Amino acid sequence: MMGLVYEGYPPEMREKIRVVEETREERLGQQIPKLSLEEREKLVRKWHPDYREDTKRPVRIGPNKGQVIYREVADLLESWPAVKPGDVDLDNIDYDVDILIIGGGGAAASAALWAVYSGVSPENILIATKLRFGDANTVKAQGGIQAADRPNDSPVRHYLDTIGGGHFANKPELVRALVMDAPFIIRWLEDLGVMFDKTGEGEMIEYTGGGASRRRLHAAKDYTGLEIMRVIRDEVWNKGVNVLEFSPAVELLTDPDTGAVSGAVLWNMEVKAYYVVRAKVTILATGGFGRLHLAGFPTTNHYGATADGIVMAYRVGANLRDLDSAQFHPTGVAWPEAIRGELITEKCRSLGAQLVNANGERFINELEPRDVVASAIIRECAEGRGIITPTGACGVWLDLPMIDRVRGEGTIRRNLPAMYRQFIRHGIDITREPVLTYPTLHYQNGGIEIDPWTHVLRPDGTPIPGLLAAGEVTGGVHGKNRLMGNSLLDITVFGRRAGITAAKLVKEMSGKPRISLKHVERYMEELKRLGVPENRRAPVLLPDYRGERVLLRKLDLIDLAPI
Ligand code: FUM
Repeated sequence: MMGLVYEGYPPEMREKIRVVEETREERLGQQIPKLSLEEREKLVRKWHPDYREDTKRPVRIGPNKGQVIYREVADLLESWPAVKPGDVDLDNIDYDVDILIIGGGGAAASAALWAVYSGVSPENILIATKLRFGDANTVKAQGGIQAADRPNDSPVRHYLDTIGGGHFANKPELVRALVMDAPFIIRWLEDLGVMFDKTGEGEMIEYTGGGASRRRLHAAKDYTGLEIMRVIRDEVWNKGVNVLEFSPAVELLTDPDTGAVSGAVLWNMEVKAYYVVRAKVTILATGGFGRLHLAGFPTTNHYGATADGIVMAYRVGANLRDLDSAQFHPTGVAWPEAIRGELITEKCRSLGAQLVNANGERFINELEPRDVVASAIIRECAEGRGIITPTGACGVWLDLPMIDRVRGEGTIRRNLPAMYRQFIRHGIDITREPVLTYPTLHYQNGGIEIDPWTHVLRPDGTPIPGLLAAGEVTGGVHGKNRLMGNSLLDITVFGRRAGITAAKLVKEMSGKPRISLKHVERYMEELKRLGVPENRRAPVLLPDYRGERVLLRKLDLIDLAPI
C-alpha cells in the first residue's frame, strides 16, 4: 500500500469534489421526502446485505440447528473448541470467585459496579478482558444515549420507536426494561460524573437520532461512549474490583451433572497460559461480531469483536436469535484507506450533512432508518453513481461543510471535535471538504436470548443456571435493527441488571460449584458426526488480517458490491 498513502485527497478525487461544491447552493434548503413503508421495504430488500441469499446459511449443529444465520457466524458455531478437555488441569484453580465477568466494555463495568452496590465484595468479583479494560466498542460509540426524560416524551414513545426500528422483531419485555430504566440510568451516570452536553443554564441538550420521534439523545459531543467509559471504569477501579487484562475466555465451565455454568477457562495472551476460574455466577459481556467482517464489509468495531460470547454460550445450550440480521452503519469512512470503515456519526446527518452522489444529487432523506440509508448508498455505488477510490473502494459524498453553512460557522468544531481531528490527521478539513462514505458493519443486532433480568435462556425458555449475559452479545432488545443511542443504553441498563441478579444469585448459593468441560465433549461428538475439519477452531479471539480474503476486501470493488 506504500504508493497509496496521500495527504488528503488525491488529485482525481479532488476533481470529483467540484460537483459537490457546485451544487451546494441549490441543495441548500432542499427537502427530500421520507419514503413510504412500501418504498423502504423494496429498497432494503433489494440492496441490504441481510436480504442477500449468499450472505447466510442454516447452522448444522447445536440448539438452533436449522436456523438461517450469517455465514461467518455459522462457521464459528461449527468449530472445534480452542481448548479441549485434557488440555487444562481443572484441579488447579487459579481464581475462585463469586462472580466472573467476561468482557471489558460498558456492560462489564456496569455489571461489576451494580454487583458491588448490591453487596458483593469487590475482591470476590473478577473482570476478565481480552484487551485492556475499556478497549471495547463502548469507547467508540459517538452519537449518544437515548432516554425519554422530557415532558413531551415518554418511555412509551421510546418503546414504540425502538420496536418500529427493530421491524417488530424485538422481545417486548426487554424493550420495556430498556426504556423504563433509561431516565434512571442517565441520572446515575450524571451523578457519577459523566459530562453530558448542557446549555449555559445547565439543561441537558438532547438530539434526534434516526428513527426517533423525539429529541432524546444525550451526548458528550461526538465521544459519548468514551466519556461514559472513562467514568464507569474509574469507578470500577475505585471500588477495587479485580481486573485481569489480555485474558479472554476460551470456554465456559459447567457442572458435569446439571450443566450449570460454573466459571471459565481463560487464555492469558501475555504469558501464554490457561487460567481456570471457578465462579458461582458468570456474566457474558463480550460484545459483538463486527471484526468478522460479515459479507466482506469494513467495520467500525474494535479488534476484539469476534463473537466469542455467542460461541461459548451456544456450546452450553443457549438460544441464539436474530443472527440473520446485522447492522451496517450507513456512513463509514471510505477514504482515507487508513481509517476505512471507521464511524462517521449519524449526528453529522442530524446536524444537516447531506449525502450526495457522483452527479451532485441527493438520493435519500438522510434521517431515514439506518438500514434504509445504507441500502440507498449501496444502490448508488452498485448502479455506477459512486466515487471510486485509488484502492478500488466505492463511496458517496457526505457533504459535511453544509453543517456550518446551515447552522453557522464553528458548529462542526464545537459539536464534532473528534470527527474533525480524525480527518485533519489525514489532511482532510471537514469544515471545508466533504468526506467519502460507504456502509460499514456496525452492530450485532441479535445474539444470546435473555430474560429482563439477564438470565441466559435455552430454546425452551428455561434459564441456564449460573449464566447471565448483557450488552451486544445478547439478542432481542433491538429486534432486526437497532436505533442510534440504544446501544449505550443497552449496556448500562442490562449491565446493571446483570450485576443485581448476580448478587442475588450469589447470596442464594451455598458451597462451591463443580467444574468440568463435559459440555465440550458432547459438542465435539456432534462436530465429529458432521465432519468439521479439526483445524477450524473458535473462539478466534482476534481477527486474521492475512490472506487473500482480506486483500479482496481492500482492493476489489466486486467483493463489496451486492450485485
Ligand atoms: O452514529 C452514531 O453515532 C452511532 C451511534 C450508535 O450506533 O448508537
